[in-house]
Amino acid sequence: MDVSLQEKALSLWQKGDVVAFPTETVYGLGADARKGEAVARIYALKSRPQFNPLIIHVASVEIAKRYGQWNAWADALSRFWPGPLTVVLKRQGGISDLATAGGDTVGIRIPNHPTALALLAAFDGPIAAPSANRSGRISPTTAEHVAQEYPENPPLIIDGGPCVVGLESTVIDLSTTTPTLLRPGAITRTMLEDALGVTFAQGDVAGVLKSPGQLASHYAPTKPLRLNATDYTATEGVLAFGPHMMEAAVSQQLSLTMDMAEAAANMFAALRLLDAHPQVQSIAAMPIPNAGIGEAINDRLMRAAAPKS
Ligand code: TXA
Ligand code: MG
Repeated sequence: MDVSLQEKALSLWQKGDVVAFPTETVYGLGADARKGEAVARIYALKSRPQFNPLIIHVASVEIAKRYGQWNAWADALSRFWPGPLTVVLKRQGGISDLATAGGDTVGIRIPNHPTALALLAAFDGPIAAPSANRSGRISPTTAEHVAQEYPENPPLIIDGGPCVVGLESTVIDLSTTTPTLLRPGAITRTMLEDALGVTFAQGDVAGVLKSPGQLASHYAPTKPLRLNATDYTATEGVLAFGPHMMEAAVSQQLSLTMDMAEAAANMFAALRLLDAHPQVQSIAAMPIPNAGIGEAINDRLMRAAAPKS
């Protein structure tokens, strides 16, 4: 990253302003997590309901330990950092109430992206950052997507290229006696169970409203989305996975070779393109296996398909 751009981003963060930056999952809209006013600017820009807690991004485990009460579970999972995993811990050390939505826990992660890590290390503090979409819309996986969200009042956007993971981080609650998976992601259920030596109860993810990422409609295109489609109509755009249904007039391919990681990386961009396509009235999504990162892909698709309130 350009040195003067980095300086500009840092000075905005230092004076309590918002900067959009890349991570390996999706682009984030970041501000100093210790300053209520700075965090309020994020909520205002996103038009986000204020009861949603934000993820705190840090450059090192050492900084994470300043803001969350570390425990043995966290130790066992720190092997996935830097990476697409957020751990929820008991809160300490001066994170603003607004960033945690007034709760007594805090979600923390170290993102695995060179630009994000360089910025966070230079800042040497906690950056609260939700995905950089406006509330309820599709998460941005390129700098251009971020710019599209804020046509009138764009924040400074640091371009770090397309996000390689493409789905928001896995969120796991480690603040209670038994860990709970709150949001599936690229660090899969099995990876977490192996690292922790536990088995999550089935339905953990669907059940709890503790993580408002669980709100029914989320990550949503503006057009209706039909899941597990094995056919399509003339007015549907196809969200394709593999070689079938490619003869559709409008389609976006997630992965021709049915590679799940590739599908995850392409999903939000593909949804955006279908959503914006003038010939598409609704979207037909082909079935995707629920194994591994497929659980996270299907979680996002289900939210995208949920009726909007
Ligand atoms: O990959 C990601 O996590 C991206 C990038 C920018 O890091 N960020 C992201 O943030 O997805 P956001 O705000 O869109 O989603 C944060 C999720 C929400 O579902 C929120 O409820 C949950 O994390 N979360 C954050 N802090 C929490 C806490 N203390 N307890 C429970 N859930 C929490
Ligand atoms: Mg989000």
